Amino acid sequence: MNKAFYLETFGCQMNVVDSEQIVAVLSDIGYSQVDSAEQANLVLLNTCSVRDKAERKVYGHLGRFKPIKDKRPDLIIGVGGCVAQQEGERMLEKVAYLDLVFGTHNIHRLPELVQQVEESRQRGCEIDFHDRETRLNLFPERTFQESITRFVTVMQGCDNFCSYCIVPHVRGREISRLSADVIAEVTDLVEQGVREITLLGQNVNSYGLKNSTELSFPELLGVVNKIKGLERLRFATSHPKDLTNELIDCFGTLDKLCHHIHLPFQSGSDRILKLMNRGYTVKDYLDKVEQLKNICPDIRLTTDIIVGFPGETEEDFQATLDLVEKVRYADAFTFLYSPRIETAAAEMEDNQSKFQKQQRFDRLLELQQRISAEIWQEDGDSVQKVLVEGLSKQGEGQLFGRTTWNRIVNFSGSKELIGQIVTIKISKVFRNSHLGELVES
Ligand code: 5AD
Ligand code: SF4
Repeated sequence: MNKAFYLETFGCQMNVVDSEQIVAVLSDIGYSQVDSAEQANLVLLNTCSVRDKAERKVYGHLGRFKPIKDKRPDLIIGVGGCVAQQEGERMLEKVAYLDLVFGTHNIHRLPELVQQVEESRQRGCEIDFHDRETRLNLFPERTFQESITRFVTVMQGCDNFCSYCIVPHVRGREISRLSADVIAEVTDLVEQGVREITLLGQNVNSYGLKNSTELSFPELLGVVNKIKGLERLRFATSHPKDLTNELIDCFGTLDKLCHHIHLPFQSGSDRILKLMNRGYTVKDYLDKVEQLKNICPDIRLTTDIIVGFPGETEEDFQATLDLVEKVRYADAFTFLYSPRIETAAAEMEDNQSKFQKQQRFDRLLELQQRISAEIWQEDGDSVQKVLVEGLSKQGEGQLFGRTTWNRIVNFSGSKELIGQIVTIKISKVFRNSHLGELVES
């Protein structure tokens, strides 16, 4: 019998990579992926709990599958990822038609959980955290996927315990993968046709810091940079406190490393940064930005910012606006603070009104949108190197690729260019992408 599963993924790139592993383990037990729940025997949600809104969405999405299950009671419904890790058995109690729950360290157990439901309708929940040795063996093994760009996980988990953040609670302690395994995976992907790799970790630049016998992160980048056939290299997400001089130097010495870094600062106020347990001051941060710009003058930065952290005053918020003006980010992900269960900040006194927080959020967004527009306008009429990734969503024979700054460029060209670096003259700048013309391939 052909068995089919439908999978929806929410949240960060970690979940995207975990979902690739879900696809791989399910194909081992004869399931193939389909693109609607109606066609599936098994429906899975890979969930995110970083903010309350993302978490609430899970229950909303599950509700969509209930009518299907009412009609077809043998449909298996499961939830994985960060909400599953946090809620565990409670999810089975809350949602009567849910069959299985699996945590962030338990993807390898999914086949058995699914088979248990198939055979005896026995509901299952596994959310145990594992030790380092076990986890090192559980790093995702990927199935083949035709793609020009791929993520490769180099570390998982986080030990930083920023006071607002649920990640250390739902992803567990930080572990770094063996560098030999990372290098082998990148080499393999490049042989399959991948041209751009993003090394991925919750806190990627703390890679190897706890294991002195391993390569350091800059050393790992150096080795990956030399892999023949690889055109571009990126990494995400970096913590400012672990951005070492050696790592900054990589932007001057490694020819494949793109001139873009995502460097979340969260707040421009030292008082709030301390309450957030971030481990750096505004001056530390700005010094590193200056160093980056000295080493790589055309580097562009993006960032994450939280508005409305408990006790944030107008002065604290103004300091955040000041930092945004100073650094001039190409883009920023801005978030309203959302209290998370088990985190230190959830216990902190908060006397701001929702209205006040929203107003600050809107002011920040307006400022950032103005700066982003100014920066991307600078690209108008310029000539850029673009790695062609595939057919554009715009249709009509158009292709799309990205500049070194991770900006999407659409242009007309033939399919044979996919996977190549081409030269494009930017003709029009839109809010989220550029339009260009092929100069040479
Ligand atoms: N509330 C709002 N934003 C948060 N982030 C993490 N936790 C919270 C929270 N409790 C944001 C941070 C982080 C990004 C991935 O999500 O800015 O860098
Ligand atoms: Fe969360 Fe801080 Fe770890 Fe990032 S570094 S995952 S914000 S605890």
